[in-house]
Amino acid sequence: MSDARHRRSRDVAGEDARRGGRERRTDGEGTPSPVPAKREIVRLLNETDDSAVLALFARADRVRRKCVGDAVHLRALIEFSNHCRRNCLYCGLRRSNGKAVRYRMTVDEILAAASEAAAMGFRTVVLQSGEDPGYAVEDLCGLVRNIKTGTGMAVTLSIGERSRDDYGRLKEAGADRYLLRFETSDPLLFRKLKPDSVYEERFRCLRWLSELGYQVGSGNMVGLPGQSEESLADDILLFRELDLDMIGLGPFIAHPDTPLRGSPDGTIDRVLRVTALARIVTGNAHMPATTATGTIDPRGREKALQCGANVLMPNVTPQRYREHYLIYPGKICIAEEPARCRFDAETMVSSLGRTIGRDAGDSLKRPDRRTGKRPSPGEDPPGGHTAPRES
Ligand code: 5AD
Ligand code: SF4
Repeated sequence: MSDARHRRSRDVAGEDARRGGRERRTDGEGTPSPVPAKREIVRLLNETDDSAVLALFARADRVRRKCVGDAVHLRALIEFSNHCRRNCLYCGLRRSNGKAVRYRMTVDEILAAASEAAAMGFRTVVLQSGEDPGYAVEDLCGLVRNIKTGTGMAVTLSIGERSRDDYGRLKEAGADRYLLRFETSDPLLFRKLKPDSVYEERFRCLRWLSELGYQVGSGNMVGLPGQSEESLADDILLFRELDLDMIGLGPFIAHPDTPLRGSPDGTIDRVLRVTALARIVTGNAHMPATTATGTIDPRGREKALQCGANVLMPNVTPQRYREHYLIYPGKICIAEEPARCRFDAETMVSSLGRTIGRDAGDSLKRPDRRTGKRPSPGEDPPGGHTAPRES
């Protein structure tokens, strides 16, 4: 991402749309495909006609099929530490939450959990933690190297804001992907909810990650206190501006031991609309049906998979730690064994008439470094997986 493009992303997301025009882009065959303008996105977020909302979901499902195919990619999630140096107002892991029972898995424990995931058939492992200064970067690099050599899995990191040097070293050690949600594109809301983070620095991290060659994921929360439809529309347009490889989004869920206790949770309806619009606007990004979405609605992940999502992240964190990674309350998949979480995900996928992705589910946006070719979206017909042209 260039500096100019990055600035544009933050400052004028959706500016084209605000000027009233409809951006047109072309797919591989030169057929124009409209990107909804900001006012159209806001209108769809507020739409009260059920049939129009169902049509939006159906359109997103068609775009998903065309751009990323029917395969659902499974990523094994290991939540390896719940220590965090930040104090985000919404999060149960915030440093001021004295009620959180803190844990930090050893590098050997993490490696064992990753090996178990590989043995279960996972092709990607996601290593997630709070922003924990308790691991030296050399140790994390050693861990990544061992996972790569021992299992061959793709490694995704989700460990927050770090220095460019750390990101570079982890990439050299073999990390493939990085998840860092921007949470909200609204700078004022960001400052309020993340009092010890700096908006510009977050986007600088995203730029570094992209420059270093990571497949980059970002995302937001839906239904944050003080979040307007306009700001959600900006989030959606920013997904496109940032040209993300992965987009993770879910509802805000109020945690009782945080300053946002008692605030209303995000709704499934709103999350599904944002999911659908994100798919329509971005085309071929990988998009998980998140645990938070499954937490506010027992069929939330199935619903998300039917309006744009194409990834599931079964939790393979060892049982004894899992109940303590409580970003928000009521989290599903706390009690199940790792193998059970995978089995449930497989059952969900086949009940929807979809298939499990057989490969590592790399980004469809970046040319493969060895062959110079873009990966194909599995069972999908050839062509058309850059721009969401519907058939
Ligand atoms: N509700 C829902 N999602 C949350 N996150 C943090 N706190 C909450 C909450 N209360 C999300 C953030 C973060 C991700 C790991 O979890 O988006 O990036
Ligand atoms: Fe820490 Fe992330 Fe929670 Fe913020 S959202 S307190 S950075 S774990």
